[in-house]
Amino acid sequence: MKDTFYITTPIYYVNDVPHIGHAYTTVACDVIARYHRLRGEKVFFLTGTDEHGEKVAQSAEEHGVEPKAWADSMIPRWREVWERLQISFDDFIRTTEERHERPVQEFVQRLYDRGDIYQGIYRGPYCVSCEEFKVEGELLEGNLCPIHGQPVEWLEEENYFFRLSKYREELLRLYEEHPEFVQPRERRNEVVSFVRGGLQDLSLSRVSFEWGVPVPWDPKHVIYVWIDALQNYITAAGFGNDPERFERTWPADVHVVGKDILRFHAVIWPAMLMAAGIDVPRTVLAHGWLLVGGQKMSKTKLTGIHPFELTDHFGVDAYRYYFLREVQFGQDGNFSWESMLARYNADLANGLGNLASRVLAMLGSYFDGAVPERPEGEAGRLQEAGARLAERFDAAVTSLDLTAAAAALDEFVREANRYLVEVAPWKLAGDPGRRPELAAVLYEAVEALRLIAVYASPIMPDAASRLWEQLGIPEPLAGQVLPEAARWGSIASGTKTNRGEGLFPRLDA
Ligand code: MSP
Repeated sequence: MKDTFYITTPIYYVNDVPHIGHAYTTVACDVIARYHRLRGEKVFFLTGTDEHGEKVAQSAEEHGVEPKAWADSMIPRWREVWERLQISFDDFIRTTEERHERPVQEFVQRLYDRGDIYQGIYRGPYCVSCEEFKVEGELLEGNLCPIHGQPVEWLEEENYFFRLSKYREELLRLYEEHPEFVQPRERRNEVVSFVRGGLQDLSLSRVSFEWGVPVPWDPKHVIYVWIDALQNYITAAGFGNDPERFERTWPADVHVVGKDILRFHAVIWPAMLMAAGIDVPRTVLAHGWLLVGGQKMSKTKLTGIHPFELTDHFGVDAYRYYFLREVQFGQDGNFSWESMLARYNADLANGLGNLASRVLAMLGSYFDGAVPERPEGEAGRLQEAGARLAERFDAAVTSLDLTAAAAALDEFVREANRYLVEVAPWKLAGDPGRRPELAAVLYEAVEALRLIAVYASPIMPDAASRLWEQLGIPEPLAGQVLPEAARWGSIASGTKTNRGEGLFPRLDA
C-alpha cells in the first residue's frame, strides 16, 4: 500500500550546465518535499539526469568524447548546484544506469506484446533542442522551432510507433474525473483542448543515431529519448527492481514540470502508463518560465544565468525565496537583478532580518537574553496572526501555490514588525511599572520568531536553522512536526537566546 509522498523534478539534459530556469523547478520541488516532511510524512523526492538522445550525443561529439563520458563529466556540475542550493533529494537517477535501462526495455516490450506498438515511417520536423517531433503548422517561418527559434531537422525514417491515439477517450475521462490531474487550471484547459482536437500516434524509436536504450526486439533502433526519460519516475521508485517499494511509492503525488514539457507529462506519460496497466500519477504541476528581457531564458539564446552568479551575491536562502515570492507560481516572470535586490532588502533585510535582530537585541538588553514568562490571558495579536499563517501556509503548499506560501510568511513578518512599532517596547522599557507588559510583548515577539523559523524552514532552510540557534533551540524543531511544532507558547521561559549575526545584512545596489 502506498505510504509515501512522492514528488519529482524533471530529469535534466546533461548537454550543458544548469541555469536558474532548471533550478527554479528543483527549488519548488524541494520546498514541497521539505514541507511534507515537516508534516511528519514519509517523503520520496526524486531528481536526476536525462542522458540519452540526439542533443546529448551532439554535445559529446562537439567536445570530442563519447556520450557516456560526456554525461559522466557533467554530473558533478549538476550535483554541485543542488548541493549549494540545499536540495534535499532522496534519490538521483541517471538514465544510463542499469536500474533504469533494463526496466525501460521491459516496459516497452510489454507495450509491444500488448499490440500497442507498430512499425511505420515518420516524416516530419524534429527539434533537437526540444527532442520533440513537431507539427509543420507550429513552425515559425516554415522552419524554426517555436520555442528555440532554431531550424528544425527534417526526418524521414522507419520508426516504431506507439498507439497514442487509442488513449484519447481514456485521457479525456482522466481529466474529467480528476480535475486536479493537471494544475494550475488554465494549463488543464490547454491540455484538454489539445487532446479533444485529436491525437496522432507517437514515434517511439529512432534509427539514425545510436545513443539510447536499444529496442529489445529490434536493437538497431533506440528508444525515443522521451519514452525512455519519462520512465525514470517509475524505475527510480522500484518498477522492475523492487516491487514492494514500488507499491509503497507509486503513483507519484506530484510531477513538477515547466510548461514547455507539459504535454509529455500530461498526455503521453499517462497514456503510456494506461497501455502498460500501471496507475497514472496524481498531479502534474506546470510552472511558467523565467524570462530575461521578456524571453524564455536559455543557454541556446545565451541568456542562461548560472545559479552561483546569484547565490554568490545574495546567498542561498534569498535565492530560494526570491523566485517563489516574486514570480506567481504557474505564470511566467521576468528576472532582473534590480527586482531581486529590491525584494532582498524589503522582505529579508528590513523584514525578517530586522525583526529577528530587534527582538533578540531587546531580549538581550531588557531580560539578559532569557525568554520571559508566557503571559496569561487571551491570545495576543501575533498569536492570532500566527494561527492564520499556519492555516494559509498549509493550504498554499497543499494546493501547490508556492507564491502564496511565501507571501503568507512575508505578511506574518510584516505584521510582527508593525506590532513592535505600534507597541514600542523600547518605550515600555523606560517605565519600571510596565515591566509585565514589556515581558508579554517580547514573549509574543519571540514566539513569532520561532513560528517564522518553522515556516521559513522549507523555503530558507539555512536562515531557519540560524534563527533556531539564536533562539536557543539548538536542535531544529526538537524533533517535532506539524501541527505540534506550530503550537503557540512552546518556547520555554528562561530559554537563553543570543543575538548572533544578522540573518540578512542589507545589500547596496
Ligand atoms: N530532459 C527533459 C525532461 C525529461 S523529464 C522526464 C527536459 N530537460 S531540460 O533540462 O531541458 O529542462 C528541464 C526543466 O527546466 C523543464 O521543466 C523546463 O521547463 C525547465 N526550464 C528550462 N528553462 C526554463 C526557464 N527559462 N524558466 C523556467 N523553467 C525552465 O526538458
